[in-house]
Amino acid sequence: MSDVLCLYYSRTGKTKEAMESIAEALGAEIVAVTDGMDRSGFKGYMRSGMDAMRKGTRNLEPFTTEKDLEDYRLVIVGTPIWAGRMSSPIRGLLKRRGLEMTRVAYVVTRDSDTRYEDIYRQMDQYTASPHTHAVSLRMSSVGYDFWRDRFIQDVKHELEQL
Ligand SMILES: Cc1cc2nc3c(=O)[nH]c(=O)nc-3n(C[C@H](O)[C@H](O)[C@H](O)COP(=O)(O)O)c2cc1C
Repeated sequence: MSDVLCLYYSRTGKTKEAMESIAEALGAEIVAVTDGMDRSGFKGYMRSGMDAMRKGTRNLEPFTTEKDLEDYRLVIVGTPIWAGRMSSPIRGLLKRRGLEMTRVAYVVTRDSDTRYEDIYRQMDQYTASPHTHAVSLRMSSVGYDFWRDRFIQDVKHELEQL
């Protein structure tokens, strides 16, 4: 049973891919969350953008983890960027369960050159303590593997120190 948990939302698979490789490298448990909305196609894209801008959230579909969230040494939360913000399913997760996460790190995925690092502080508003590490990844960019692997090394180092 791992004491690191990767929790993520992914609409089109990019955050899923990033989180799967991170979880594998760390030997972490990995769980996807969803608010159950149909976010496919153009309508789903528009709905997602509106939800992110309004900062509205819905209840999440129930998900199970091997332990209570507060019992993990580290919870890594993964989200795509939507309209310059975190995705609304992840805002919903953090709003409802963030205080159970005592130690957190973040993975955000994006399409543009902007790193959106201000989002980390927005996410910290919902968690029991501020994040210890974070990375912003753009799929297919030159630095993707470098930044992902550096995040993995930083997290491994942190876990060794605990
Ligand atoms: C509604 C919506 C808004 C988005 N807004 C941004 C944005 O502001 N900046 C950006 O770089 N990417 C933006 N994206 C692109 C996604 O963040 C990017 O493709 C991400 O890696 C998708 O992750 P996923 O495949 O796990 O859903 C947006 C995507 C969607 C669906």
